Amino acid sequence: MCRLPSEPILAKLNFPMTRSLPSASRLDISGYGYQAEELPSAGDAPRTEDDPRLWFDDPTRPFELEIGSGKGTFLVQEAPHRPEHNFLGIEWMMAFWRYAADRARRRDLRNVRMLHADAVEFIRQRVANKSIHTFHLYFSDPWPKSRHHRRRVVQDATLVEFHRVIEPGGTLRIVTDHDDLWDWYEEHVQRCELFEREAYEPCVSAKAGELVGSNFERKFIPEGRNFRGMTLRRND
Ligand SMILES: C[S@@+](CC[C@H](N)C(=O)[O-])C[C@H]1O[C@@H](n2cnc3c(N)ncnc32)[C@H](O)[C@@H]1O
Repeated sequence: MCRLPSEPILAKLNFPMTRSLPSASRLDISGYGYQAEELPSAGDAPRTEDDPRLWFDDPTRPFELEIGSGKGTFLVQEAPHRPEHNFLGIEWMMAFWRYAADRARRRDLRNVRMLHADAVEFIRQRVANKSIHTFHLYFSDPWPKSRHHRRRVVQDATLVEFHRVIEPGGTLRIVTDHDDLWDWYEEHVQRCELFEREAYEPCVSAKAGELVGSNFERKFIPEGRNFRGMTLRRND
């Protein structure tokens, strides 16, 4: 069973994104929204039948996964530019997940799916070895208090997991505006030999001056925040 943090705790962390969303009854997520809570129990290791690539019309396409998609802005912008790739967004805030899935359906983006889950747990339990072409981790929650650092997505153990699921030559793309989280990323990457660090190139769908073009980035560009990105390529 997938355990997700309570919504009030999460809402506090996402203060810039909590403008009112349409009520659930006005959203239609059929064919686009999946919930970890409704999937068969996970096995001891990822099983063939659990592979999320099977949720797409053509499971053989390169598979990209975004951790913490928020309202899905990056996905609905990027996916039409690269219709030959499949995109899965994972978001644990129910309202955002539902909104993003409905958004993808309204735009008829057959290469996008949204999953309600804890992304780290889902990847560990259900994502197959060498199945991911690109990971996207944009403006991940910084969990600024030291006692909460263990909740950050990037940990020594998650880098090992990401290496397991990324295909040869595949990448993990990271962007943040948070200085302490950036230092955390640098420290973890420096002591990890599983990836080669490369310069970050903005997303295909980003507008001039943007690194991603997500809600979070657009909200804080006017404040002149220091946005930084890195690309980590899997070492073999
Ligand atoms: C600050 S928001 C950024 C959202 C979006 N990436 C953007 O740039 O606008 C971080 C998002 O990640 C989600 N999130 C954080 N950790 C997660 C996890 N382990 N699994 C799924 N979603 C997660 C949060 O609920 C939140 O919506």
